[in-house]
Amino acid sequence: MHTSIDLHNSRVLLTGAAGGIGLAIAEGFLLEGADVLATDIKASEGIEQLIAQYPNQLTYVDVDLSKDDALEALLEKACDWDVNTLVNNAAIFDMGHIWESNLDQYDRLFHINVRVMFRLMQGVASHLRDNKKTGKVINFSSQAGRRGEALVAHYCATKAAVISYTQSAALAYADDGITINAIAPGVVDTPMWEHVDKLFAKYENRPIGEKKRVVGEEVPLGRMGNPEDMVGAVLFLASSLADYITGQTLNVDGGCVLS
Ligand SMILES: NC(=O)c1ccc[n+]([C@@H]2O[C@H](COP(=O)([O-])OP(=O)(O)OC[C@H]3O[C@@H](n4cnc5c(N)ncnc54)[C@H](O)[C@@H]3O)[C@@H](O)[C@H]2O)c1
Repeated sequence: MHTSIDLHNSRVLLTGAAGGIGLAIAEGFLLEGADVLATDIKASEGIEQLIAQYPNQLTYVDVDLSKDDALEALLEKACDWDVNTLVNNAAIFDMGHIWESNLDQYDRLFHINVRVMFRLMQGVASHLRDNKKTGKVINFSSQAGRRGEALVAHYCATKAAVISYTQSAALAYADDGITINAIAPGVVDTPMWEHVDKLFAKYENRPIGEKKRVVGEEVPLGRMGNPEDMVGAVLFLASSLADYITGQTLNVDGGCVLS
């Protein structure tokens, strides 16, 4: 029996690596000795610092995941590089009244949050299966995927879809030793929440910053999460300690959702 997280053999494709949670996950994997192929639409200062700190472990590429050619090229690069762990973290948020919403918002959110998530999961898991290798997929859902919200219909639906695809894919690839799980954060203090807060200010007629303060106070553990709060769950699910866990969505939310 072994009881420590050992990620020295992990080769991790991580999307959204320049964002709030993605950057913390990248650093967590690097600290634990994993090799990371990180990607985002544009590098951030944080990613540049990690590249300087971990030149042998971290490769970073700019990729606009909304472009199919670029997505397929990334997948090919990751498979050639012998990826065995995928963290589908990139996503976008938008909100508004359902009666004002148009299909453009639906398409944009479903494209990044679901279509891209699905294609990378399918591509990496099938590559592993075809090469008789085991591996791990971790998809980012949200507490928003657990129930609908009047102003957040499309985003909630995309995150519910992540939970469902995680379950179906986990069953489909179970015989191949590939585990597929999701993480459902609650409210996490990242650039995404700055954007969310501004939108709630507009739609609920609140001062900027108020929604963020209120949602933090409502968390049973008494505060918003920070990106580092997500890292332990990701590293655990990526490790052999979680070999007997698949198809699950783990709430990492300070107690907001009890399921
Ligand atoms: N922050 C929260 O409160 C919260 C709560 C629940 C779930 N989540 C989920 O956690 C994950 C990370 O969220 P975050 O808060 O760190 O968000 P973030 O906005 O800080 O990071 C998301 C990253 O995805 C990247 N991305 C978006 N579109 C892209 C594209 N077309 N091509 C390439 N990259 C693209 C962005 O550039 C960004 O760096 C997301 O899946 C999000 O839905 C976040």
